[in-house]
Amino acid sequence: MTPLLRQLFDHTSSTFTYILGSNGEALIIDPVKENISQYLQLLAELNLSLKMVLDTHVHADHITGAGLLQKETGCEVGSSKESSACCGSFIFSDQEVLALGNTSIQCLFTPGHTDDSYCFYVTNPGWLFTGDTLFIRGTGRTDFQNGSAADLYDSLHNKILILPDQTTVFPGHDYKGMTSSSIAEEKNHNPRALIQEKNDFIHHMNNLKLADPKMMDVAVPANLKLGL
Ligand code: FE2
Repeated sequence: MTPLLRQLFDHTSSTFTYILGSNGEALIIDPVKENISQYLQLLAELNLSLKMVLDTHVHADHITGAGLLQKETGCEVGSSKESSACCGSFIFSDQEVLALGNTSIQCLFTPGHTDDSYCFYVTNPGWLFTGDTLFIRGTGRTDFQNGSAADLYDSLHNKILILPDQTTVFPGHDYKGMTSSSIAEEKNHNPRALIQEKNDFIHHMNNLKLADPKMMDVAVPANLKLGL
């Protein structure tokens, strides 16, 4: 049976949070701390019990709700093998498959935006939660938190854009009002995915000259402790 999916938007940080439900169990991807009560109410209304929370990476632009959700519900919190965040209840690694009800979620290690970035791939029906690795017609930046344009190029071309064309892409952020895309769309229309030469991609990413995120100094240290 197709899992349930809800996409929630945090206006302050333009972050998407995803609730997946299958057979009475729920997973929340990239929760925002300030919005916990909204998630808990929605889970109750949908008759879902929160099994686990995953963050795609240690965020610099908002504080994760993972720790608070764990306190409130006793859910599990996954931390990647590569993450320096403490206090998770289990560790996941590249290619590992997590179970949620009748649904399988494959963890794909996709460093580049940060050195601990993951995408989560729900093979059936073909949903990819890309965090800040791939945005709709863009990508996350690579200029802090041990980011690497070379790694992002490899993650995009060797792990993400090789997935089936019809895979739906659900990004970690959108700043232009878009909500989802597909691998085919991004292969054909994403300006960064269209840069074929790795050196050109690295040069492009290393010359963006972006300001630091406003919350970075607060968010990163908090997120290393599940936002608590
Ligand atoms: Fe990020």
